[in-house]
Amino acid sequence: MNERAKTEANSEFWNEGKFNNFVKPFLPEDCSEMVFVDVGCNKGVFLKEAEDMGFNRVVGVDSNKLAVERGRSWAEQHARKYKIYLKEMEDVLSDLPVADYTVLANTHYYFTINDWLDYIDRLQYKTRHVIIITAQKRKPNKCWARADVEGIREYFKDWEEAGYTEGPSLEGDPHPRKLWGLCFKSPHLDRMSIASLDLGNHVQEAFYKDLDAGKDYKDTRYYKIIHPYRVRDHGWSEERFNIWIEGRIKVYKDVKENGITKPIIIDKENNILDGNHKTGMYLDWGYKTILVRRI
Ligand SMILES: C[S@@+](CC[C@H](N)C(=O)[O-])C[C@H]1O[C@@H](n2cnc3c(N)ncnc32)[C@H](O)[C@@H]1O
Repeated sequence: MNERAKTEANSEFWNEGKFNNFVKPFLPEDCSEMVFVDVGCNKGVFLKEAEDMGFNRVVGVDSNKLAVERGRSWAEQHARKYKIYLKEMEDVLSDLPVADYTVLANTHYYFTINDWLDYIDRLQYKTRHVIIITAQKRKPNKCWARADVEGIREYFKDWEEAGYTEGPSLEGDPHPRKLWGLCFKSPHLDRMSIASLDLGNHVQEAFYKDLDAGKDYKDTRYYKIIHPYRVRDHGWSEERFNIWIEGRIKVYKDVKENGITKPIIIDKENNILDGNHKTGMYLDWGYKTILVRRI
């Protein structure tokens, strides 16, 4: 470890210290069903911390190849579940899971203003909360996203400000720097109890549990109900049916691997308008809650 790394390791403003002082204060104690995304995660220090806190799904993104390779290699050696995408953050949003918390720690000002405005518009439907950690830039440049607290509040004026911190005192710290942390809540997303949602019919109940248990899909209760319904009663060909059910199974594998990339859409009466099957999966897997967008 070089001198700088040593002072950072004992500082409240870098790595674990930064997570503990500028991210953790905004997180709930029980995050066992929640999703954590770190944009500009570098080698993934926050990902490890989030996984240790008990987040259900933890994902990071960074475009620095060396940092990502180091992060992945450490994660593999330590049997970590989290995933790191080697991608440009402005390009990867649609592939990421819908999140409870998205962190941009000294990262957001790497967006050009155009990309940034587009990004935060889309972020309203991708994350329940955003946590921004920022530092004063020596030479602010109007072509890039603003780094000052006032500027950040302006970007998130349609969100609810859910927290703010200036962190601990700089005095006595081996590697101090002035940081600010802000947390905003999206006006559009919530995490809701699955029991409070109307899934329509229950024919697919236990389908995904059966698949996880290794049953052939043709032996599931769902198949036995849905096959005659579609083929006999609605005139579907076998070929059309097979394409349809294999598509369902592909979605199930994808959601299992990557989470949901769009929230479940519900109306004011809690009817699911889109995402019935995905909610069924989460129910089968034993989850009590899911991320929704109410319209
Ligand atoms: C100042 S570092 C902060 C790292 C980490 N978030 C932290 O708080 O310690 C900025 C990080 O953003 C990453 N980054 C910069 N531009 C990026 C982009 N366009 N896409 C993805 N990552 C980017 C860098 O590779 C670097 O890891």
